[in-house]
Amino acid sequence: MTLVSEVSSGKHESVDPVMSIRGINKGFGAVQALTDISLDIYPGEVVALVGDNGAGKSTLVKILAGVHPQDSGTITFHDKLVSIPTPAASRALGIATVFQDLALCDNLDVVSNLFLGREIGTIALNEVEMESRSWELLRQLSAKIPSVRIPVASLSGGQRQTVAIARSLIGEPSIVILDEPTAALGVAQTAEVLNLIERLRERGHGVLLISHNLADVQAVADRVVVLRLGRNNGEFRVADVSYEDIIAAITGATDNVVTRREAAVRAQTEEKNK
Ligand SMILES: Nc1ncnc2c1ncn2[C@@H]1O[C@H](COP(=O)(O)OP(=O)(O)O)[C@@H](O)[C@H]1O
Ligand SMILES: [Mg+2]
Repeated sequence: MTLVSEVSSGKHESVDPVMSIRGINKGFGAVQALTDISLDIYPGEVVALVGDNGAGKSTLVKILAGVHPQDSGTITFHDKLVSIPTPAASRALGIATVFQDLALCDNLDVVSNLFLGREIGTIALNEVEMESRSWELLRQLSAKIPSVRIPVASLSGGQRQTVAIARSLIGEPSIVILDEPTAALGVAQTAEVLNLIERLRERGHGVLLISHNLADVQAVADRVVVLRLGRNNGEFRVADVSYEDIIAAITGATDNVVTRREAAVRAQTEEKNK
């Protein structure tokens, strides 16, 4: 097992991260959801964010998406300190977030979903251009969508995920955050979405992949960042780490004194609240 911080990073030596977060804290009332979280994302890199239920993954995603403000800690984007007070601010920075519910309009066709809220043309929508840009985008993603003029309700789960991801690329984001993109998919559709994630990396996007599925993580991620009880609990290069080591970091088999104590305190609090 090799911690990333202990190895000299071959790939990143001359490249700055797109985004660096440092010392992020976030509480909801008495619950400390995130404590002192740090994370870097480089261009053209897939970073998997893993952790048990309640580890703080969604809270971190929501901070980056402008849904919740952090209590303290910094976010640096392209070497500038930024604040992300709203979802619009997150998008404007170049962060695209695909939430688990996808937020597609089922009755609208693929083109309309891709350009929803971003329609080209000030007076009339330029349907021809939107359609050709839709095909171009889907072609770049090697997406298997039969027609861009059918309602998304008639697409498979994998195709709908593809449309949601393609939609997130319309604003040319530097970072794409995918929250459990394969959770509801079968084997073949999962493979399609994993291919799509590789296309995102080829296009130079930094990808933050939230996933429960370690097979997916090992198939497409370059690095794995583990959260446990709202803290960083290990960071590994996928090429160097075993399945067992990732599981150990997730479940706390490798806990240090601080996280062990935190786990005990939480268990007591939960017991009291029953
Ligand atoms: N809006 C909220 N209000 C209160 N507690 C929350 C809220 N969102 C998350 N939490 C708590 O923060 C902790 C982290 O949750 P979450 O980020 O959803 O974890 P994960 O996505 O890794 O399962 C949990 O204890 C959860 O109950
Ligand atoms: Mg979650």
